[in-house]
Amino acid sequence: MIKRLAVLTSGGDSPGMNPSIRSVVRTGVGLNLDVVGIENGYQGIFDNQFIPLGAIEVSGKIRDAGTFLATTRCLAMLQADGPARVVEILRRHKVDGLIVIGGDGSLTGAQKIHHLGYPVIGIPGTIDNDIFGTDMGIGVDTALDTIIHSIDMIKATAASHRRCFVIEVMGRSCGYLALMSTITTGSQVAVIPEYRHDLHRIIDTLNRRMQRKHNNSVVVVAEGVCSGQEFMDELLAAGQGALDQEVRLTVLGHIQRGGSPTHFDRLLGSRMGEFAVLSLLQGETGAMVATVGGSMRLRNFDEILGKKKVLPADAIRLSQNLGIEIGNVTA
Ligand code: F6P
Repeated sequence: MIKRLAVLTSGGDSPGMNPSIRSVVRTGVGLNLDVVGIENGYQGIFDNQFIPLGAIEVSGKIRDAGTFLATTRCLAMLQADGPARVVEILRRHKVDGLIVIGGDGSLTGAQKIHHLGYPVIGIPGTIDNDIFGTDMGIGVDTALDTIIHSIDMIKATAASHRRCFVIEVMGRSCGYLALMSTITTGSQVAVIPEYRHDLHRIIDTLNRRMQRKHNNSVVVVAEGVCSGQEFMDELLAAGQGALDQEVRLTVLGHIQRGGSPTHFDRLLGSRMGEFAVLSLLQGETGAMVATVGGSMRLRNFDEILGKKKVLPADAIRLSQNLGIEIGNVTA
């Protein structure tokens, strides 16, 4: 029986976490539950950072990027006795269930808590869109929006100087952000971990573009392949005498996590927050809220965690039909 529930955000922040916390709080309070926020992710449990949350504490939060509860990558949780200590502290605070908003590592922590018999539901919160079992995580859409606005701006200066820009984007070992931003900015090359890039084909693509009188070109590099600097060095070394344009580098960095949540992320965060509370109340545990084909589902941690999410096949096909150079599949 859940009377008091807690919510925390963990790992890298993502836009959409605040709308999600807000929805957990508003749904919980509306159902006469006590809701507490835990500050600083799992670390806040060890440090007893529990704060009561009501409708007023989450007022206006739907518009803000980041997480007002703050977040950490918690080392204590990785210790062998970390999850058991977490359960013991939560019980001491009379918290009956936990909602964890975060990426792979954070959900793996939640899985361990579940295996100790404690009720927990996860929400996928990461810009990387690398969590198996859900079409989207909260924050992905906003990060992509920030990336495409940045690339649009870079294209203006690239065109004025007839330059090629290499743009490094986040994503850990997943090429989703790079691939989708390449498609939606009309960029020419996506260098992604899921495909092996071919420098000579890339140089050929870039040269052919300038020969056709285009005045700019953009290569989007996923950080999971290498840094933008490393890629640019490789490109310049391979292109000596063959590449007919100046190249500049922009690393977008943490700006990608900072955008005010888009309509999509506000709605997804709100829907997932609500669904997580309703699921806990129905006795569900050990599962992540997922969006599959537009509807909310629960996916058991044991069935999804540790599995590699693949890039959507239709996005790969689309990029190929649009003439984007992505290289050859690696797996
Ligand atoms: O997982 C989200 C993410 O933004 C990755 O894309 C990136 O590699 C990482 O976090 C950066 O982590 P930090 O903020 O700790 O530097």
